[in-house]
Amino acid sequence: MAVVARGRCFPRAWLRRRAWQGCGREYRVAICTELKQPLAIEEVSPRSVRPHEVRVDVHFCGVNFADILICHGQYQEKPPLPFTPGMEFSGIVLETGADVSTVKQGDSVIGWSVLNCLAEECVIDEKTLWKIPEGVTLREAAALPITYGTAILALEHRACTQPGETVLVTAAAGATGLAVIDVATNVLQAKVIAAAGSEQKCRLAMQRGAHSSVNYSQGSLKEAVRKLVGNGGVNVVIDTVGGDVFLEALRSLAWEGRIVVVGFAGGTIASVPANLLLLRNISAMGMSWGQYRHKNFPLFSSILSSALQYCQQGRIRPHIGAEFKLEEVNDAFLHVIQRESTGKVLLSLK
Ligand SMILES: NC(=O)c1ccc[n+]([C@@H]2O[C@H](COP(=O)([O-])OP(=O)(O)OC[C@H]3O[C@@H](n4cnc5c(N)ncnc54)[C@H](OP(=O)(O)O)[C@@H]3O)[C@@H](O)[C@H]2O)c1
Repeated sequence: MAVVARGRCFPRAWLRRRAWQGCGREYRVAICTELKQPLAIEEVSPRSVRPHEVRVDVHFCGVNFADILICHGQYQEKPPLPFTPGMEFSGIVLETGADVSTVKQGDSVIGWSVLNCLAEECVIDEKTLWKIPEGVTLREAAALPITYGTAILALEHRACTQPGETVLVTAAAGATGLAVIDVATNVLQAKVIAAAGSEQKCRLAMQRGAHSSVNYSQGSLKEAVRKLVGNGGVNVVIDTVGGDVFLEALRSLAWEGRIVVVGFAGGTIASVPANLLLLRNISAMGMSWGQYRHKNFPLFSSILSSALQYCQQGRIRPHIGAEFKLEEVNDAFLHVIQRESTGKVLLSLK
């Protein structure tokens, strides 16, 4: 499936950006040259680091549903073509700009960005790098920025999940889903009902700490949840699927329940029946992880530090379901979009 294209014709501005004088070596990146088409693998020349930037030798990068949406022109960010997708990575610092004070050459780090991470090297602002503490591997650290950032932000900051509360999570065996189970169960001491699209995925969610599970491909999610918790309902819903799954999850909420809209993996954006919110004093809220980078950076940064700390303390354990090489990036995308993936999907660059 991997498409390797060299010597293609790119806009002049982009070629200029790639030609950094004084450097003989090149590194490989995945490039989207046309929306909805397979990515290409290109060799590019490194550019110089600016004073606040850091060059990282990437060891692992996360493959996210949002990377696929960006390459299909269906994400809120619509970068001009061509671009290198990829929002997170782990690696080793190669070089630091003159003003960088938080990391040094040889440090193990994770990084977050909207683009450019599906590459063997990444140049990134020091603000969006976090040092990996001792005892956490580069592989598990690569699984943290987006999925655990999202899980912690949604459960702690948005839904204010309390110990003993019941959390219903949809697409529960997916990247975000398993992170939600991990954080809700092992950090917040909540009980999780895992809702997923197959028996196999339900089993995995249970193995990873869910209290009970529902296969929503087999009938009504709301009815299945009612059988588990009675008419009282669940306290918190974290939904990444949207459409009817969202509506059934909304109808499963208890008095003063909270539902957090995280994504629309199913492709349909539901409308919220406001009467349901009124009758049971329910709160429906959105959550966009990347926006916190701009709107509340201290919170964004502290959540990533917490994720690394929880991992170091052994309180959370990311589940990596599949690993691909850079040249297999299109297979990795297919694996996610065809609903075959469980947990985090990584590209291994070494
Ligand atoms: N708001 C944010 O900041 C934020 C952060 C992270 C992710 N997200 C969003 O959350 C969603 C899940 O992301 P993820 O990275 O955690 O993905 P993922 O769970 O690893 O994969 C998506 C899962 O969604 C379910 N799904 C239901 N209908 C689907 C369909 N028609 N096509 C594909 N999958 C379908 C599948 O699980 P089942 O088979 O079990 O249904 C699938 O495995 C995406 O929409 C993503 O953009 C948002």
